Amino acid sequence: MNILVIGSGAREHSLINKLHSDTNLIWAYPGNPGIFQLALKTNLLSMNFDEIFGFCNENIIDLVVIGPEQPLAEGIVDYLEQKNIAVFGPSKLAAEIESSKVFSKDLMQKYGIPTARFQSFSRTDSNEEITKFANSLGFPIVVKADGLAAGKGVAICNDLEEFEDTIKEYFSGKFNEASQRIVIEEFMEGEEASIFAITDGNDYVLLPSAQDHKRIGEGDTGLNTGGMGAFSPAPIVTDEILEKVESTIIKPILLAMKSENRIFKGCLYVGLMIDKNSNSKVVEFNARFGDPETEAVLELVEGDFAALLYSSAIGKIDKTAIQIVENKFASCVILASEGYPESFKKGFVINGLNTQIDDSVKIFHSGTSEKDNQIVTNGGRVLAIVSSDNSLKQSLENVYKMISNINFENKYFRNDIGHRALNNNN
Ligand code: AMP
Ligand code: GLY
Repeated sequence: MNILVIGSGAREHSLINKLHSDTNLIWAYPGNPGIFQLALKTNLLSMNFDEIFGFCNENIIDLVVIGPEQPLAEGIVDYLEQKNIAVFGPSKLAAEIESSKVFSKDLMQKYGIPTARFQSFSRTDSNEEITKFANSLGFPIVVKADGLAAGKGVAICNDLEEFEDTIKEYFSGKFNEASQRIVIEEFMEGEEASIFAITDGNDYVLLPSAQDHKRIGEGDTGLNTGGMGAFSPAPIVTDEILEKVESTIIKPILLAMKSENRIFKGCLYVGLMIDKNSNSKVVEFNARFGDPETEAVLELVEGDFAALLYSSAIGKIDKTAIQIVENKFASCVILASEGYPESFKKGFVINGLNTQIDDSVKIFHSGTSEKDNQIVTNGGRVLAIVSSDNSLKQSLENVYKMISNINFENKYFRNDIGHRALNNNN
């Protein structure tokens, strides 16, 4: 197959690593220096849909795979499908499950899918009304921007003062249009996990569960980020819990999307909060693969991944295309630029990328670029270091060993990825 992958993160690098084979030729846009070790460069200069279609036409592209949420929310799938190109990813209307928290929460409420108690508000609603609802939930309380905010649109407020400041900030345009409407919801206690369902809208294939580490600081402290590390499978997602998640969340949401004429195909990311009684509620749905979970999860996938994505794209899921590796764990630690998710410096030379340790370790590029024949830092999240092994502990040891060999001036990473699962002896 000829495949075009849209995106430029470590998620796309790991997707391309899985899609790449003797019989698949991969192009990537925008890509990054790591990706271009496996994929060809395009002549595209922007995300203009018409130009992307022109490229697909000229290069006889069989499948386009969309990595990030932004082009999905802008309708890239609808556009290319109208021109008869097979695309892995949901339509613009279906992608609203991620791009509008108000839509997503209303949908869950309408179809009885378990999630935190909430109400949505816009800037024309009175402060009194908003405060009244907040007080009825009690603190801490969660405020979410309605629209896309690069994973940073969620604030957890510990008291009324913090809450009122947050509301002011959001409504005065902290996330531009994205925070003109907000969702206020109850704070859920528990442990988070992510599950990816590759679906054609009717049926689905589940990838192994994963756990992300969203906070910047060790011990899950500090600001929320796009994700600082992940491992898979997540021991908290037992077979029993997974079965319940399928029957109370995954099947009902796919049916709900169908009933609303927004059939969802692509990767449905189910973000869960699992409480101490093993009850799961939805924290969020995303309309795409998670990053950095994907980098770990795909290490446990064997078989024809391209065939799986293609079968989803054409609306006829092939449930036999891939196999899940049993009895192995994969982990991923992000090397970031100190200062992320706020301001940080970039342009520093990365040393040690060619260190050979063992075959189980992979380096996926995220915020990197090439300058004077050297790889330099070019983003908040710079690299994802990944390994799979017979235990979570061993896979993490492999990753951290590799990390000690890779250096750049403002390198930052969390030293405690997997801490919860390791404390439970996994
Ligand atoms: P979201 O973008 O909705 O996934 O939120 C980002 C992160 O904020 C989640 O991964 C959680 O760590 C946290 N979060 C979001 N909603 C809640 C909630 N209702 N209760 C507790 N934590 C939450
Ligand atoms: N790792 C969280 C996300 O991709 O949204």
